[in-house]
Amino acid sequence: MIILGIETSCDDTGVSVLKVDNAEKFKVLSGEISSQIKLHAKWGGVVPNLAAREHSKNIIPVLKKSLQTANIEPRDIDLITVTEGPGLIPALLVGTNFAKTLSYLWQKPLLGIHHIEGHIYANFIENKISPSQILSSKIKFPLLCLVVSGGHTQLILMTDHLQYEIVGETQDDAVGEAFDKVARILDLGYPGGPIISQKANEWNQQKEKTTLTTERHSLVKGQDINFPRPMLNSPNFNFSFSGLKTAVLYEVKNLKENLSTNEFKKLIPQICYEFQQACIDVLIHKTMLSAKKYNPKTIMLAGGVSANKELRQQLKESIKNNLQNTGYKIPDTKYTADNATMIAVAGYFRWRKMTNLKKKNALQNWRTLQANAGLKITN
Ligand code: KG4
Ligand code: ZN
Repeated sequence: MIILGIETSCDDTGVSVLKVDNAEKFKVLSGEISSQIKLHAKWGGVVPNLAAREHSKNIIPVLKKSLQTANIEPRDIDLITVTEGPGLIPALLVGTNFAKTLSYLWQKPLLGIHHIEGHIYANFIENKISPSQILSSKIKFPLLCLVVSGGHTQLILMTDHLQYEIVGETQDDAVGEAFDKVARILDLGYPGGPIISQKANEWNQQKEKTTLTTERHSLVKGQDINFPRPMLNSPNFNFSFSGLKTAVLYEVKNLKENLSTNEFKKLIPQICYEFQQACIDVLIHKTMLSAKKYNPKTIMLAGGVSANKELRQQLKESIKNNLQNTGYKIPDTKYTADNATMIAVAGYFRWRKMTNLKKKNALQNWRTLQANAGLKITN
């Protein structure tokens, strides 16, 4: 079957065409994305109304390009899937109304998809755990998914496809949000994740070099930078990142008061490294703690922050050292950021579970589907 995916929950306009063969193998025929990062960067974050205006401008060209690349006609499409929520309501409204119109005009069934369900299902685009991801096998249930995105930080236990139990979540900021806020504190621009991880990596390399020549502290003039690991010892699987962000804010204020601008600038890679490591430590600790309770067959990463190389690597090491019988799955970095392919894949798994009557009724979903900024993930 051929599935059209549409994603407009934040600052990416995405339209994808996915082919699913009888053996349930996915072939991504096209995955067009129009990013608005440059537009929002000057505001230090996504401005919802500007995002909506851009989505409106871009969605038809993106659809046209996606159909062209996939070399298909609207009549070839069997199902339309669209992100229903959560996200920015002006942005979501563009995608959902567009999908509803296409469904009505083309007389195709329509399914609304939860954005995080999409991020989780990005892992199933290629449902094989490569040897570099520990076990050479398929994703197996029960699985534990660490969802790390700009709006969510959750540990989700899945006993089967589409069966979710949130076993832990952030009590305040999401981890991606913390990366973005820390980048703003350090004047590094938006989005914060990629630039912070790049700076952290610079520090890591400097550190290795200077350790070899035993000059390590001369670079930082003896600065000791340490950040807290919030909720590390709390007896649950929840997270908190707002205090960590505030700790960075105070440390930066203190350093700026005591150092010249140049001296402070030299410390930015170290601050990024220490902040990133504090995030990774709590994320991994809570994942391992919950894995010990729920004994998952697979641990999975999902969401925009799952692009973080250190997180990917350190979680892999931790599983290898502590949970020898557990597989590890990470999404291809092509699909960690927002995209419409993950929405189409999640849509396939929803469709597969539906009765024939429900599938027929999905032709009428354009009447009722509504963008929902606060949508909760449901079974
Ligand atoms: O999953 P996503 O699109 O957000 C939501 O669906 O809410 O992820 C966006 C987030 C941003 O906060 C961005 O800074 C972060 O993912 N991010 C990263 C990296 N790449 C993107 N965070 C850490 N390291 C990265 N390499
Ligand atoms: Zn996302």
